[in-house]
Amino acid sequence: MIFGATGDLANRKLFPSLYRLFEKGNLSERFAVVGVARRPLSNEEFQENVKNSVQSAIKDSTRLDEFASHFYYHSHDVTDSSSYLALKSMAEDLDNTYGLEGNRIFYLAMAPEFFGTIAVHLKQDGLTETNGFKRLVIEKPFGHDLESAKELNSQIRHAFSEDEIYRIDHYLGKQMVQNIEVIRFANALFEPLWNNRHISNIQVTSSEVLGVEERGRYYEKSGALRDMVQNHMLQMVALLAMEPPIRLTTDEIRSEKVKVLRAMRPLEGDMVHEHFVRGQYGKGMLDGEQVPGYREEPMVDSESNTETFVAGRLTIDNFRWAGVPIYIRTGKRMAVKSTKIVIQFKDIPMNLYYETGQTVNPNLLIIHIQPDEGITLHLNAKKSGNQLEANQVKLNFSNKSGSGINTPEAYEKLLYDCMRGDATNFTHWDEVALSWSFVDKISEVWENHKAKNFPNYEAGTMGPEEADQLLAKEGFSWWPVADLDVDNC
Ligand code: BG6
Repeated sequence: MIFGATGDLANRKLFPSLYRLFEKGNLSERFAVVGVARRPLSNEEFQENVKNSVQSAIKDSTRLDEFASHFYYHSHDVTDSSSYLALKSMAEDLDNTYGLEGNRIFYLAMAPEFFGTIAVHLKQDGLTETNGFKRLVIEKPFGHDLESAKELNSQIRHAFSEDEIYRIDHYLGKQMVQNIEVIRFANALFEPLWNNRHISNIQVTSSEVLGVEERGRYYEKSGALRDMVQNHMLQMVALLAMEPPIRLTTDEIRSEKVKVLRAMRPLEGDMVHEHFVRGQYGKGMLDGEQVPGYREEPMVDSESNTETFVAGRLTIDNFRWAGVPIYIRTGKRMAVKSTKIVIQFKDIPMNLYYETGQTVNPNLLIIHIQPDEGITLHLNAKKSGNQLEANQVKLNFSNKSGSGINTPEAYEKLLYDCMRGDATNFTHWDEVALSWSFVDKISEVWENHKAKNFPNYEAGTMGPEEADQLLAKEGFSWWPVADLDVDNC
């Protein structure tokens, strides 16, 4: 059952992902999807919507009619028990028709203010009483701070146990985010070096070209810190910094990630200003066109204090990472759309090539998350010719050209995992709570000290100057993400 079935997420991501699973044979013939939303629609109208959304995402969709015939629609009032009872009887009929053995997935792809109400009704009105499995898939944002997240959690825990709750962080569905583990734990080459003796700093960038679009109302209350850092950025950091789990099971991996979040040094008071930088885009040029500043966007306050950019230095207080800064940055209306992780290794103890005036470049391991997917390793090797000169060489693996043709989209992967009952790539409550408690302290300081210099970066740039200073004061600088692209190597 997809709650919010007429919404953007369902149409852009969920229906096409389900179709891909269907076409690949990963969805058995025995399935039914009930679209749940407020507006009245017939099953036929809903099936037409589903077909249109699949067609606009996938060119070659030959089994569309057969696929769409599994879709049904229920016009719903989220606060009315009789509406849930009607949904229950529909679910029971479909259960018989398709032989579903009582297995039910409830996907909440809608405004978060209704999450709690829906979960409570699902239990109260009997939808969760079933002989098969019951799972709840829930989209972000999971609360807007620790307090509200706790409240929401206790509402949904009333109806579902922790292992029945699948909290989506779509970054965890990305191929190359999942690859972090494999790169680290399946290579003899990296894991011995993955610590403060050999790594000088780590940089995680997720930059976007798009502005806030039509989401001003939500974004004004959220800002980049809550929208991106609390979830996607900290999840990537946890995967990069965790200890090797004793087994690749959901519980073992989660418990290692949780330890990283627990070891993250909390920031308070002036430390926030020292370690975190916020930005807001002003007008600027993108692709040769003038774009408005954040404060001119629809539904945004003309004196808004909301940050559209965050850069920060994270400190992980454990044996492995003591002394290694982990820098993160994310923002809207930046120069490129790119998510990359750069692991910079320490310099060799002495540069033998110094006398010939050469600098030896540091070794870098770059994990390209998107739009290009791959790994690059920067090494030094001899320049061809008679002189013994060191030269930078780049070893590249591009996922597009290798095994990764037709890599599943994040949502396809996550839906599949949920159907199989694999919660590894979803966020556990402990991770959510720890991330909020870290982020809340920063928000509090930022809310109490209005930014005086907003807007402080032009649209189409890589953010405010202060983000560069954050690294410069420790002798580092951001590796320019555009130059690191797989295609530029
Ligand atoms: C979402 C945020 O979680 O992630 C958006 O709410 C952001 O503001 C998006 O644009 C970025 O996702 P991706 O996959 O395009 O990097």
